[in-house]
Amino acid sequence: MTPNLHRFPQLSDARAPLRVMRFGSDIFPGQMDYLPRFRYMGNKFRLLPWIHGVLSNLQFSTAADVFSGSGSVGYLLKAMDKQVYSADFLNFPTVLAGAFIGNSDAQICEDHVELLLRHDQKARKLIQRTFEGIFFSQDDLTFLDLVSWNVSKLDSVEHRLLAKAALIRSCMKRQPRGVFTVAGDPERYKDGRRDLQLSLKEHFVEQLAVCNAAVFNNGKKCWSERADAFSTPQGWDLVYMDPPYVPRSDDNCYMKRYHFLEGLSCYWDGCEIMEETKVKKIKKPFTPFSYKSSAMEAFDKMFRHFAESIQVLSYSSNGFPDLEHLVKLMKKYKSSVQVFAKPHQYHFGTHKDAVRNKVEEYLLVGI
Ligand SMILES: C[S@@+](CC[C@H](N)C(=O)[O-])C[C@H]1O[C@@H](n2cnc3c(N)ncnc32)[C@H](O)[C@@H]1O
Repeated sequence: MTPNLHRFPQLSDARAPLRVMRFGSDIFPGQMDYLPRFRYMGNKFRLLPWIHGVLSNLQFSTAADVFSGSGSVGYLLKAMDKQVYSADFLNFPTVLAGAFIGNSDAQICEDHVELLLRHDQKARKLIQRTFEGIFFSQDDLTFLDLVSWNVSKLDSVEHRLLAKAALIRSCMKRQPRGVFTVAGDPERYKDGRRDLQLSLKEHFVEQLAVCNAAVFNNGKKCWSERADAFSTPQGWDLVYMDPPYVPRSDDNCYMKRYHFLEGLSCYWDGCEIMEETKVKKIKKPFTPFSYKSSAMEAFDKMFRHFAESIQVLSYSSNGFPDLEHLVKLMKKYKSSVQVFAKPHQYHFGTHKDAVRNKVEEYLLVGI
């Protein structure tokens, strides 16, 4: 397969000064209107039209998104009619990808809703017992225990994934900043937002409809799994990589922010709860991308792992290593590396932090 990048000027080799191209496209799949947006740290939701513009000039039929997070880029690839494989080393992103990318047909019907909401005294009480006074009201926690129990009664894996995705999205919306770092219900965030007023049950019923609407079939077999990027299968025409990067300040720990969603996605089965923590965190898995001492080697290993594929790497000017080092590393395995750039402002964190989050967003394309 010959990748078609002729419409773009070639980037000079790594020794010459780095030349960065700006690019955007208006033609965007209409299906993207149905992508449920998650407030996931580092999500590429607002960058999708730009990413689409770059991807649509490459020739490929199969694609992998190996740091799937909210699943936004995998969904875009599916909407571009590609055969998509999606992976993340956390479980709840894998549930989201399973619901919206792997699942092409299953939708939740009225009978399912009735079953999901039906009282069952056999429902376990782990969530009520563990998170009382930490997150949500006692009624909400009881509701989460009930639905988690009833989900297993749904007849197919796809239906279960879709219901779990709706539950995850409900919990994220009901938290003031979508994260689970602080115990209690902070007064300062009570700004009249509807999302903070609805019960989890009300959210869930709404989110089932939102999640149903996101399901579509592109005629290709798409699937997702929980996997470390280094152990994902090879042989894709194109691999999209959006790893966490060593932050210049703050930290980038996904487990610290989303441990509750991670636990909820598997009912804490196999999760090691750190009982001494105020918010009952789960132990975080190691990723070499988060540390200065291991990041360079991790990028090298990843580019080597996917040496046979067109490589597309999302990166940001506030990350480590810097752009020049990354281009150099990718050039070890790809004959041509092009860099596209776009100014971007992450809306994560408080208003005060927003200034710090103004960055230049890059796409490195290696062919
Ligand atoms: C920047 S986020 C991806 C955001 C995603 N593109 C989106 O639009 O939502 C990085 C993701 O990489 C995952 N991750 C970190 N280290 C990993 C590893 N070694 N293997 C697989 N996934 C990893 C994290 O769980 C996180 O979901």
